[in-house]
Amino acid sequence: MKDRLLPVGIAGLGSYAPQRVLTNAELAQMVETSDEWIFQRTGIRERRVAAEGEDSGAMGTLAALRAIENAGLEPGDLDLILCATTTPDKPFPSTACRIQDRIGAKRAGGFDLNSACSGFIFALNTAAQFIRTGLKKRVLVIGTETLSRLIDYEDRNTCVLFGDGAGAMVLTPLEDAGRGEYLGGSIHADGGKDDVLEVPAGGSSLPASLETVRNRQHYMVMGGNKVYRFAVSTFVRLVREALEPYGYEELGRIVPHQVNQRIIESALERLDLPKEAAFTNIHKYGNTSAASVPMAFDEAYREGKLPEGKLVCSVAFGAGLSWGHFLLRW
Ligand SMILES: CC(C)(COP(=O)(O)OP(=O)(O)OC[C@H]1O[C@@H](n2cnc3c(N)ncnc32)[C@H](O)[C@@H]1OP(=O)(O)O)[C@@H](O)C(=O)NCCC(=O)NCCS
Repeated sequence: MKDRLLPVGIAGLGSYAPQRVLTNAELAQMVETSDEWIFQRTGIRERRVAAEGEDSGAMGTLAALRAIENAGLEPGDLDLILCATTTPDKPFPSTACRIQDRIGAKRAGGFDLNSACSGFIFALNTAAQFIRTGLKKRVLVIGTETLSRLIDYEDRNTCVLFGDGAGAMVLTPLEDAGRGEYLGGSIHADGGKDDVLEVPAGGSSLPASLETVRNRQHYMVMGGNKVYRFAVSTFVRLVREALEPYGYEELGRIVPHQVNQRIIESALERLDLPKEAAFTNIHKYGNTSAASVPMAFDEAYREGKLPEGKLVCSVAFGAGLSWGHFLLRW
């Protein structure tokens, strides 16, 4: 059976960040914090915020069009669209359907996938299976987030960390893509820790009411320290497991979820890897949840930071709790 699975590759990459920059200095006028505190604890200098009326679908559309162009394809060539987002445009229809219409991908089916910060990793692993089995040929995978709409700008624990943006990749059979061979990945969860990072209201368990709005329950809440420890140990474990069959000398770059510069550096230290082993752009965008891996990937690619023929590993972790990885040979 295994012999009949088709090798999968990354045919195209693209990303989009909204224009509006929100600096640490501006946040310091909104809550009790400082540029120094935020930068030292997180590595973030600024993040982007979507304009009024600019939603996850709009940003995902722009990232998608760039990835499709980079793949040398037309939207009409796509068979399937997977959209990872925790901030969909509406409860339904899916943001994938809205993007399908906006880009004019007439032949493609599509659906959303929500696993918070691990969303893009899970969506890419899912997309790869469709191609490996021959069920679909050209799959667009998007990570897009408008986290600014879930953030309480009176809560300094969370408002300094997150930003908006979108990233996308087009996956095809390797023989068409010619690069970025998908070597495998993982999808994990521990749903017993759902209160570490959550938006309490707005879903079926606590629908919107005057009271939920009054109690500010539509905003993200986070146990920062618990997430910190979970993220460092999970990062280390995922990279070790992914590289075990190959050896560290094969590693070209880690493109991790842009969670926090300190988390990334502390994990690298434990792995005995230099700072440069990981690509980061968190100083510019903060944590953009499901958009962070494809945004960082696209930037690393454009800056020539993905060494040809070497392994590139992406790891992510987030609400759920959930965590996972994918491994490519670039
Ligand atoms: C949130 C985070 C940056 C806080 O850093 P930390 O070093 O753990 O800081 P602590 O939570 O221990 O807080 C230390 C102090 O700083 C204060 N503080 C918290 N946020 C602050 C802010 N934005 N500005 C200034 N002070 C702040 C706290 O109130 C606390 O004060 P106290 O000692 O008087 O109680 C860190 O825990 C983190 O990055 N966690 C992971 C979060 C994350 O990535 N979530 C998404 C996962 S996908």
